[in-house]
Amino acid sequence: MPDSAALPIVIVGAGLAGLCTALHLADQRRVIVLAKRGLHEGATAWAQGGIVGVLGADDSVAAHVRDTQEAGAGLVDEHSARFISQNSAAAVEWLMQQGVLFTDDAAGPLGLHLTREGGHGVRRIAHAADATGKAIHSALLARAAAHPNIELREHTMAVDLITSRHLKRAPAQRCYGVYALDIAQGRVETLAASAVVLATGGIGKVYRYTTNPDTATGDGIAMAWRAGCRVANMEFIQFHPTCLYHPQERSFLITEALRGEGAILRLPDAPAGDPAVGTRFMPNHDERAELAPRDIVARAIDFEMKKHGLDCVLLDATHLGEAFLKAHFPTIHARCLQLGIDIARQPIPVVPAAHYTCGGIVTDLDGRADLSDLYAVGEAGYTGLHGANRLASNSLLECVVMGRTCAEHIARQAQSAGPSVPDWDESQVEDADEQVVISHNWDELRLLMWNYVGIVRTTRRLERALHRIALLRGEIDEYYANFRVNRDLLELRNLVDCAELVVRSALMRHESRGLHYSRDFPNPLPVSFPTVLTRPARSEAQGRADGPPRVEV
Ligand code: FAD
Ligand code: SIN
Repeated sequence: MPDSAALPIVIVGAGLAGLCTALHLADQRRVIVLAKRGLHEGATAWAQGGIVGVLGADDSVAAHVRDTQEAGAGLVDEHSARFISQNSAAAVEWLMQQGVLFTDDAAGPLGLHLTREGGHGVRRIAHAADATGKAIHSALLARAAAHPNIELREHTMAVDLITSRHLKRAPAQRCYGVYALDIAQGRVETLAASAVVLATGGIGKVYRYTTNPDTATGDGIAMAWRAGCRVANMEFIQFHPTCLYHPQERSFLITEALRGEGAILRLPDAPAGDPAVGTRFMPNHDERAELAPRDIVARAIDFEMKKHGLDCVLLDATHLGEAFLKAHFPTIHARCLQLGIDIARQPIPVVPAAHYTCGGIVTDLDGRADLSDLYAVGEAGYTGLHGANRLASNSLLECVVMGRTCAEHIARQAQSAGPSVPDWDESQVEDADEQVVISHNWDELRLLMWNYVGIVRTTRRLERALHRIALLRGEIDEYYANFRVNRDLLELRNLVDCAELVVRSALMRHESRGLHYSRDFPNPLPVSFPTVLTRPARSEAQGRADGPPRVEV
């Protein structure tokens, strides 16, 4: 039972990682879960393909680890991969116990239908048709809402971590809570906590074109970085090969499971009315063709688009038949139909888009980051599982496994009331006057990242990007120092930090590997390591850039 005098655990993020952590903790601790937008918003609810479960008689942990390593291009941490894979069957079973309804197949293991995606040697992906994330998220959210020890707070945005730096007498590097903006009130609250878990998702919004929702602005990664934690492998941004190309729908994913079931990538060079004869190009790039790992497929599409001056390529699923497509891909079928594309009769226009952040806050397998009482789980964290390129459907799995181990570690710590922490003080700042500066800088940052730090990179472009990011940072820091904070400003500040981390990491990697491809260093080095960045300590004079302004303790 939770000790009512003890401080709560604050979990920043209500996606799969945050909710798993909360549900595993709540019988023993009081938990507050923050979501900066609505509770349903986040990448989890958008996940389509599924979650890895090593369940089939033809499968094994060794085979899954091998596929993960193969996709991860030599940078997968084998210990992490084995641990997470070993826990995959239990993860799927736990989700079923929470009420998640996966697509069934009486003949399948656990009665489940397993599908397949790029890079997987066998069928090992449990799914709920093509809306797996929604099925998982809504079941867990209902559980969390019903638990008396979990307080769900939406529209509440963590601004920064409260650390030893804010308590000048504190002996060790610790996290004491978070400052959080109540968006409706426009007021920053102090949330003291016995532990903080960052489950804030990825950084997809740093790019102009992304499959990610608006929440994906890298807040947790930026907060941990500013607080002095190590951040690793940020150059490895996964571009999903097939995001729908349509003027009314910029971020709609066309799941890789469609290629897993036989859909084919073609050039739009067929005579009108006969899509099935558009030239198939993937076999020219890789013997696994459409089922090669994502980095290879995305780069092949990028190559073909540039070579032929195309706006998009086509994904042809017409031969799979209307009945099959409606049964297995109902969400995609219905959404495309609304947009005027009948996927049973027409190929789907697709382009690559930023999809997944393989790097993040360095943690161990209990989710512990570099400050005591600070944890990071899910897409915001870095366990080494994904290496230089994540294997499809390993992310939801990592969220479930790490959510549990993180909760178990926190539950083993003694409960305490903790020291008092200083409040946020905005008494000497003004209301922001020129919101247009923020929206303009958002657009500029996302466009420059797309143009200079995309699928194919060069040192010169990366250096240009770094220069532009420094200029943007100057403006944003000035704005941050002088005006009352709001969500757009805070997100932009975090995106700039994350953009810089991506570019600096990319500049440090003098090779091409996995998702990082540089024209100046086109080959992999014989020996390679993760890129780990540590932030140089900032002086106290820069206090407001790191925490509450002008604090006297
Ligand atoms: P999210 O689910 O993104 O949740 C982040 C949470 O943090 C949100 O609640 C958000 O409001 C909150 N938050 C962020 N910043 C703050 C802040 N400052 N203060 C308060 N709250 C904050 N992976 C798979 O394994 N299989 C798939 O089939 C699959 N399909 C995908 C399809 C799409 C379209 C996308 C975008 C991703 C897909 N992925 C898939 C990846 C996977 O969905 C994500 O990696 C995973 O859901 C991340 O979960 P998370 O809990 O870490 O973050
Ligand atoms: C997809 O369904 O293609 C996405 C799967 C993933 O990102 O793991």
